[in-house]
Amino acid sequence: MSNLNRFDAITIFPEYFAPLNLSLIGKAQSAGLIEIGIHDLRSQTTDVHGSVDDTPYGGGAGMVMSPEPWGKAIDEVAELAPDEIHELIVLTPAGQKLTQALAQELTQSKHLIFACGRYEGIDVRVSDFYATQKNFKVREISIGDYVLGGGEVATLVIMEAIIRLLPGVIGNPASLDEESHTLISQDGALVEYPNYTKPKEWRGLNVPDVLLSGNHGEIAKWRLEQAVIRTKNRPS
Ligand code: ADE
Repeated sequence: MSNLNRFDAITIFPEYFAPLNLSLIGKAQSAGLIEIGIHDLRSQTTDVHGSVDDTPYGGGAGMVMSPEPWGKAIDEVAELAPDEIHELIVLTPAGQKLTQALAQELTQSKHLIFACGRYEGIDVRVSDFYATQKNFKVREISIGDYVLGGGEVATLVIMEAIIRLLPGVIGNPASLDEESHTLISQDGALVEYPNYTKPKEWRGLNVPDVLLSGNHGEIAKWRLEQAVIRTKNRPS
């Protein structure tokens, strides 16, 4: 069984995923730390128009994505990691809210398949069917309480949140411990303290003296206080 983390996304807009070749995620792929596959849902259609949607049973506005191409695409993608449990992530504003804790939990999954729905979403029987399969786990995830045009951007967000947590992806893993949302999830409350770098003075604004003092105890105390103030003043 491979120890790699594999990520596959199924979409009608494969071009959305070009940024995965940049920066941390691009490097993680080149270094062989992760594998990412992007799959065009339309390649699973049989009619000349490449139809992937149809009108909703029961009526109503909009279109619903048909189960048939989704089933074929998911079955095919599952074969890319045949020995793993496949975590099928269906992107929808109705799903479980993405948090740092959820991203951390998903780092444990060796094979993530992202189903990027468009229109009014995917026929629910796709989720219902794979939920009954013993080598699948199905989760619906939302990246926030707003409605996007489809699951592609949400998939990019979730992939990035997970991948940067994987061993070897970030050069200095200590930076993971200190950042905002690690503090939120581990301490239950705090966002990150404010950061400064050179120069000491910029446009009349100075770096706080304590940060120049070299006194690590005082610096830690100041940072904690600032984190508490920021957390309290953060708009909800
Ligand atoms: N698809 C449309 N809106 C979404 C959201 N907020 N999160 C995840 N997938 C979505």
